[in-house]
Amino acid sequence: MNRREFLESIALSLAATAGRHVIAPLQALTSGHIASQPNLALQANPAFVPNVELELTARTAHHEILPGTATSTWSYSGKLLKGRAGTLEDSGSYLGPAIRLRKGDKVRVRFHNELPETTIVHWHGLAVPAPMDGHPRLVIPTGAQYLYEFEVQDRASHYWYHPHPDDRTGAQVYRGLAGHLFVSDDEESSLRLPSGEHEIPLIIQDRTFDNDHQLTYISSRMDAMTGFLGETILVNGIVNQQLKLATSVYRLRILNGSNSRIYKLAWSNGMPLTLIGTDGGLLERPVRKPYLVLGPAERADVILDLSGQTVGSSVELQSRAFPAPQMMMGGGMGRGMGRGMRGSGGVGLEQGSEFKILRVRIEKKEKAGFRLPARLSQTRFRRRQEAENANQPRVFPLSFMRMQWLLNNSTFEMDAVKENETFNAGSLQVLEFRNITMGMMQMAHPIHLHGGQFQVLKRTPAEGMDDLAAALHDGLTHEGWKDTVLVLPGEQVQLLMRFPQFKGLFLYHCHILEHEDMGMMRNYRLT
Ligand code: C2O
Ligand code: CU
Ligand code: CU
Repeated sequence: MNRREFLESIALSLAATAGRHVIAPLQALTSGHIASQPNLALQANPAFVPNVELELTARTAHHEILPGTATSTWSYSGKLLKGRAGTLEDSGSYLGPAIRLRKGDKVRVRFHNELPETTIVHWHGLAVPAPMDGHPRLVIPTGAQYLYEFEVQDRASHYWYHPHPDDRTGAQVYRGLAGHLFVSDDEESSLRLPSGEHEIPLIIQDRTFDNDHQLTYISSRMDAMTGFLGETILVNGIVNQQLKLATSVYRLRILNGSNSRIYKLAWSNGMPLTLIGTDGGLLERPVRKPYLVLGPAERADVILDLSGQTVGSSVELQSRAFPAPQMMMGGGMGRGMGRGMRGSGGVGLEQGSEFKILRVRIEKKEKAGFRLPARLSQTRFRRRQEAENANQPRVFPLSFMRMQWLLNNSTFEMDAVKENETFNAGSLQVLEFRNITMGMMQMAHPIHLHGGQFQVLKRTPAEGMDDLAAALHDGLTHEGWKDTVLVLPGEQVQLLMRFPQFKGLFLYHCHILEHEDMGMMRNYRLT
């Protein structure tokens, strides 16, 4: 046996004993994930008077992604029943419509499941009551409806929505179920940031197509452990995306919507990236970075100033190379094992390789009317001392055992909550995530908490990971409010989490969707 066969044989034998979280191939559409719960969809609450009402449907669809044969996808489509014009913006691709809301909006969404399996929608980054948060135990079967009613309490920012069924989130997002969700508020509006044609939402995803232009997903447990990596980069659902822009100032609202790929974003001409916001909204002031690292589910609000460029020139947004912090095997096998271990993908685009994301062509002259203010936001950041447990962080290890990724030493259990996973609703808590996947398998894990936003208090890099730290650290976003943070191998990251006032069960998990599906997800309970 060669090394790969050896590892796969271990994986397969362990998968047999590992139980519930064996990943089904994409083709197994009707593999029997029937809701174990009665239909929990709510009746409209007569006391809730929405000013925005939407219909959102998840269904099978076809889109021409590569020229020629259309690709079959799963897609969200939306319809505005009540509210401002412009609340829904068609994506023009397999992606769902962008939803534009304002802080304070009372939103009702009538969600229809027309997929051949169960699903539920999650509003990533928003703080909504537990029954509105898309917990996997709330999945609805084919043909059923779920009614969401919530008030937007969050700051202006770039959130997103995607499915959240247990074991199938990766496959569903992969097939096309995702969309932007923008919230605006008075503070943001007062800045008069570039808007209309000058505001450009970008969702970056990687996909693999077969010869018939159909999407292929992971087919082995080994692939699930590393996370899916696609060979083709899509931006807003389009291969080789080109933006034709003017000598003006633009606001790029970037979402890493990939299942497991990390991007190290940089401009090909050496321009710095001007970051004005992250997951949870505007920063206090703009920050310039030589490059920007975005793990799965992270967002970046970036200003692109083309006023000094010449008409006819172009610049590329690239992902730069970095030493992939994954599948580094102990026992002298060394780094770079990821290469030999990709199963279905063939000639893959490895984690950490260098590639083009999109090209910007400067096509016409325009007077740039926008000047970036020095001060963006007055958000009140909190201090560690304000936390309930300022000096005693709750510690959550990220680990790997018996071919399973573990969070807080366990895999996902639908209803279970451990003692250290219980918090007071509305409290401020210091949480520490320790990536202790040393030895056999090391990966960076993008850790996401539902229920609201946190600040990154402190990052303690691992010893002996200097080259990785050097390759990524200047581009990690610690500024502002976040809901997802990359925890590199061996690192400890301390967060100051602001839990919402709502009670009930919420999730925290790795946002490598294959890890989430394998059970690297846990509940926490607010009491
Ligand atoms: Cu992007 Cu649990 O979510
Ligand atoms: Cu979320
Ligand atoms: Cu992970």
